[in-house]
Amino acid sequence: MTAQIIDGKAIAAGVRKDIKAEIDARLNKGLRQPGLAVILIGDDPASTIYVRNKRQACEEVGIKSFYHELPSSFSQEALITLITQLNQDTQVDGILIQLPLPSHFESDKVIECIAPEKDVDGFHPYNLGRLAQRRPLLRPCTPYGVITLLDHIKIPCKGRHAVIVGASNIVGLPMSLELLMAGCTITVCHSLTEDLSDYVKQADILVSAAGSPGIIKGAWIKPGATVIDIGINRLEDGTITGDVEFNAAIKNAAWITPVPGGVGPMTVATLLKNTLSATARYDNT
Ligand code: GUN
Repeated sequence: MTAQIIDGKAIAAGVRKDIKAEIDARLNKGLRQPGLAVILIGDDPASTIYVRNKRQACEEVGIKSFYHELPSSFSQEALITLITQLNQDTQVDGILIQLPLPSHFESDKVIECIAPEKDVDGFHPYNLGRLAQRRPLLRPCTPYGVITLLDHIKIPCKGRHAVIVGASNIVGLPMSLELLMAGCTITVCHSLTEDLSDYVKQADILVSAAGSPGIIKGAWIKPGATVIDIGINRLEDGTITGDVEFNAAIKNAAWITPVPGGVGPMTVATLLKNTLSATARYDNT
């Protein structure tokens, strides 16, 4: 058996096309152009690339991006002042602060300053709480993008065992809440989990967000499983690779995402989708 590849790049292109059509329809009705404020602090090379991709994707679908590129010496107080201004700015529908922030920032405190209705990353405790209660508003982009992928290839979730590797507040934890909401039985593994392979071997749907190249051995994949690899790991030679041993895993899995070209493009497309829904919220006000 060889797994079918989940073409995140193509599926994301379809999502972006739909968003562009919706934005064009808004503009034709005389409604306002959506706006996204993007904040990058410091010069982390990976963050710089992610932010460039996000801004470019905004431009392509007709979302105006307001870019704030700030030095790593910027203070937390000044950042909170900026967020407060953006919360009040009627041109700005969404606010994105690229993470990780330099170490002198308290990320949790900063994120809580974003108005929940503009929190297009879905990281504010209000939005995570809504997701935990299965009545989500703005949903974290990567996990929500994974759900879109599973829907697209018509993978049934109800009653199936999903194993999530990684429990971060921005990916693993909301991923587990999304899959619980979709009807899966969930197991969340993390850095303190003993005998990781025992859990992975039981997964009908495996989602790895460990950020550790090759941590998931191909031989552990249950025959017929769906494998979603969220890891984006840069090796010393510059190659980008996932968490899963791809060449071995394709022998067991029924479906698998490649890295790159799997989940990554869905994160960006979902950010655009969230920005549009944050915009639509204000149409009647
Ligand atoms: N850093 C890594 N992933 C993300 C994301 O989805 N959003 C933001 N803001 N920062 C990130």
